[in-house]
Amino acid sequence: PSFHVVPTKQFYHCFGCGAHGTALGFLMEYEQFTFVEAVEELASQLGMEVPRDERRGKAPPSHDLYDVLDDATRFFEKSLAESETAINYLKNRGLTGATAKQFAVGFAPKSWDGLLEHFGARSIHPQRLEDAGLIVRRESGSGYYDRFRNRIMFPIRDHRGRTIAFGGRVIEDENPKYLNSPETPVFHKGRELYGLFEARQARYDLNTVLIVEGYMDAVALSQHGIGNVVATLGTATTRDHLVNLFRICKEIVFCFDGDAAGAKAAWRALETALPEIRDGRQMRFLFLPDGQDPDSLVNQEGADAFRARIAEAGPLSGFLIDHLSADLDMEHVDGRATFAERAKPLIQQIPRGIYRDMLMDEVARAAAIPTTILDQHIPVAQDPRGKTRRAPRNAAKQPQGTLVRRAVALIVHYPDCVAKIRWPASLEDVPLPGIPLLITLLEELRDAETVHTGMLLERWRDDENGPHLARLASQECLVGSTEEAAGELTEILHRITDRAEPELRLEELLGKSARESLSVDEKQELTDLLARRK
Ligand code: UTP
Ligand code: MN
Repeated sequence: PSFHVVPTKQFYHCFGCGAHGTALGFLMEYEQFTFVEAVEELASQLGMEVPRDERRGKAPPSHDLYDVLDDATRFFEKSLAESETAINYLKNRGLTGATAKQFAVGFAPKSWDGLLEHFGARSIHPQRLEDAGLIVRRESGSGYYDRFRNRIMFPIRDHRGRTIAFGGRVIEDENPKYLNSPETPVFHKGRELYGLFEARQARYDLNTVLIVEGYMDAVALSQHGIGNVVATLGTATTRDHLVNLFRICKEIVFCFDGDAAGAKAAWRALETALPEIRDGRQMRFLFLPDGQDPDSLVNQEGADAFRARIAEAGPLSGFLIDHLSADLDMEHVDGRATFAERAKPLIQQIPRGIYRDMLMDEVARAAAIPTTILDQHIPVAQDPRGKTRRAPRNAAKQPQGTLVRRAVALIVHYPDCVAKIRWPASLEDVPLPGIPLLITLLEELRDAETVHTGMLLERWRDDENGPHLARLASQECLVGSTEEAAGELTEILHRITDRAEPELRLEELLGKSARESLSVDEKQELTDLLARRK
C-alpha cells in the first residue's frame, strides 16, 4: 500500500521502506538485472530493439542468444525422441515422458558437429553459437566443435521460461559427469536456480521451497508431486539465490545429499543464510540418510515418506548448535566456552530482530550461560549486506544552500521547466556549493523539451550526484505544474545572483553551523562576515 508510482515523472517511491527510483532502477533492484539487462527487458516488453554500438566489440544482443538457445533446446528434444539409447537411459532412471517434456529434457547426439550442422543449415553464424556457450573453438584456432556430445540435456530456464544455459549429463562412463554452459551474457551461474520456472509454471504452492543439489533431484521430486523444488547448478547456495527465493516463498528447506560433501554444503548454506535472516523468513535443514540423494530416496520410499522427512526437517538454530558442539564436551566449562566463542561471530552476522534474540537465547541455553553475558560479548552487527553505507550528509558534494537546493529540487521534479526559462550568466560566479551541479543541470536541459524525472535520474545514474538527485525526487515538491516550477526557478536563480555574495555566504555558514561544526577557517570567515554586516 505504501508503494507509489508517479507515471508523469516515471518515478516510484515506497513510503514504507523509502526505496525509490526509475523503472530501470526498479528492475535492477528487484530482478537483480544489470543496467543493460534492465534496458533490454523493458525494450522487449515494448517490442523495441536496443540499438548497439557496433564499434563496442562483439557482445551480441541478448535476444539473439535467447533465440539460438531456444532453437538448441528444440534440437536437443528432437534428438532425444530419435535416440533409443537416451530414452532408455531416462526410462531406467524412472523418468516419464511427461516429466521429460515438462522440463524440456533433451539429448545432445554423439557427434562433434550435430548442433553445428543443425545451425549451419540455417546459416546462423558460429560466433553466435559460441557466444551462447553451445560450441567451442578448436585449439588450432580455426573451426568449432559441439560443447555437448552424447549427453542428456537439461535446459536451465529463466523466470520467463527462456533457455539461458544447459546442464548435460553423460549417459556413458565419461568425465565430467555433468557439463554446464559457461557464463554468457544471459547466464550467471550463481544467480540461477534450476527448476524455478517449471515450479512456478506448474503452479505449485511455493510458500515452502526445497533447495536440492542436482538436476535429477529436482526433476525426480517434481515427478513425484513434490514440485516446490529448485536445484543449485553445481555451486554453493549464494546470497543471490536466497534473496531471489525469499521474494516468492516464506520458507526454504535445504536438502543436501547424505554424504560428507552434502554436510559441508549444508554448513556453507547456513553461513550464507545468516545475514539474510529476517523475521518472517524461515529456513530449515533436511539431512538424508547416508549415501542417499533426493532422487534415489524418493524413488525408493515414495512421495509420502519424503514429505514426512520435509515436515520433520530441523530449524537452522538446531543445526547451528549441533554442528558447533559436535566435537565438544558440553558437560564441561571448556567445551561450553569454546562453543560460545564459535557461535559469537555467527550470531553477529544476523541482523537484529526477534530471530536473532531467540537464537541467542538458544545458544546461551546450550552454553549454560545467561543470554545477557553472551550478548555483551557480541559486537554490534555490521550492515548485513556488508556495504558501507554512504554517510548521510556528504558536505562536499551536496548543495547546502537552501536556495540552490530548492532550485535543484524544482529541476528534478520538473526537468522540462528549464527549457522555458533564462538565467543570469553571473550565476557561474556565485561561490556556493551545489552551483556547479545546478549549472550542469540547467545547461543539459536548456534544449530538452520532453524530459521527465525518470529520464533525468537515468542520465545521472552513474554520477556521484545521482543518489542525491534521486533523494530529492522522492521528496515532496509542492509545485503543481511545469509553469509554476519555471516561475519559481526563475525567481530563485535571480535571487541567488542578485543578492550580495557575502550575504549568501553568511547564510550558508550559519545554516551549516546549525547542523555540524565548522572548520577553523570557516569559523574565522563567519566571524569576519558577521563583523562586516554590523
Ligand atoms: P551429484 O554428483 O550429486 O550428481 O552432483 P546427481 O545430482 O546425483 O546426478 P545423478 O543422479 O548422478 O545424475 C550434483 C550436482 O552437481 C553438479 C550438477 O549440477 C549436479 O546435478 N555437478 C556434478 C556438476 O556440475 N558437474 C559434475 O561433474 C558433477
Ligand atoms: Mn543422483
